[in-house]
Amino acid sequence: MAAKIISIAQAKGGVGKSTICANLAVTFSQSSKVMMIDCDPPQLSLSAWFNIRSDLYEETGLVLEQAGTPARLTQLIEKYSESFDYIVIDGAPHVNSTVRAMLLMSNLVIVPLAPSSVEIWSFATFESLIHKAESLNSALKTKICWNRVRRRVKSSEEVIQSVAKDSKLSAFKNQLTFRVAYMDSFAEGCSVYEWTDPVASAEIWSLSSAIKRVINKAEPVKLSKSSAAQTFIKKG
Ligand SMILES: Nc1ncnc2c1ncn2[C@@H]1O[C@H](COP(=O)(O)OP(=O)(O)OP(=O)(O)O)[C@@H](O)[C@H]1O
Ligand SMILES: [Mg+2]
Repeated sequence: MAAKIISIAQAKGGVGKSTICANLAVTFSQSSKVMMIDCDPPQLSLSAWFNIRSDLYEETGLVLEQAGTPARLTQLIEKYSESFDYIVIDGAPHVNSTVRAMLLMSNLVIVPLAPSSVEIWSFATFESLIHKAESLNSALKTKICWNRVRRRVKSSEEVIQSVAKDSKLSAFKNQLTFRVAYMDSFAEGCSVYEWTDPVASAEIWSLSSAIKRVINKAEPVKLSKSSAAQTFIKKG
């Protein structure tokens, strides 16, 4: 078994990376062995969520590690890839060497985007970094995940359409809408699947099944030690 490696990455903070990471990890862990890696020190909000969760559940199939450097991330993936079905990685709210290393080690990078103009200002720069990573990691697929979507809001629909037109990256059809359940469940160490909002729960199940369709046939990632890969990790 070689774990499928999924990173949640964006150059911006507060877009829902940790929320999506936690919810996907719990959903996958219902039928698979999942390791989460929190790459966002010193904030470590995924780790804080997991600590709260550990007091609630005797967890099966879900563990968490932390990585603050590319070397530590590589070490974890090399050590545990054969022991898990999925490794789900939460990125920092800015691009650093660990985030760049994530791009080279992943089968799938999920880029959360909120449909407002301000949220997508930095997106083009991040997208070019992803295309550079694709040239170094042939296994890499990237998908936008629209998050905090407000239905029937014209400006949101226009932003989503403009990204569909201008970006080479495609988006999951499965969008996550703005729902209090995402905030409240995370604060209590839960996923929306364990909460009281069936719509949010259905959104996450539907997204996780779309992810499986994208990733299940993915080839294993070959960790490149080439000088081009090392330069990318250091400088972008
Ligand atoms: N679909 C959603 N509906 C409502 N609130 C959401 C949704 N997704 C995330 N949030 C909330 O948005 C805030 C930011 O989410 P989160 O911490 O997951 O983002 P992040 O990208 O990990 O942030 P950071 O970059 O600071 O680590 C949190 O308060 C979270 O509860
Ligand atoms: Mg976070």
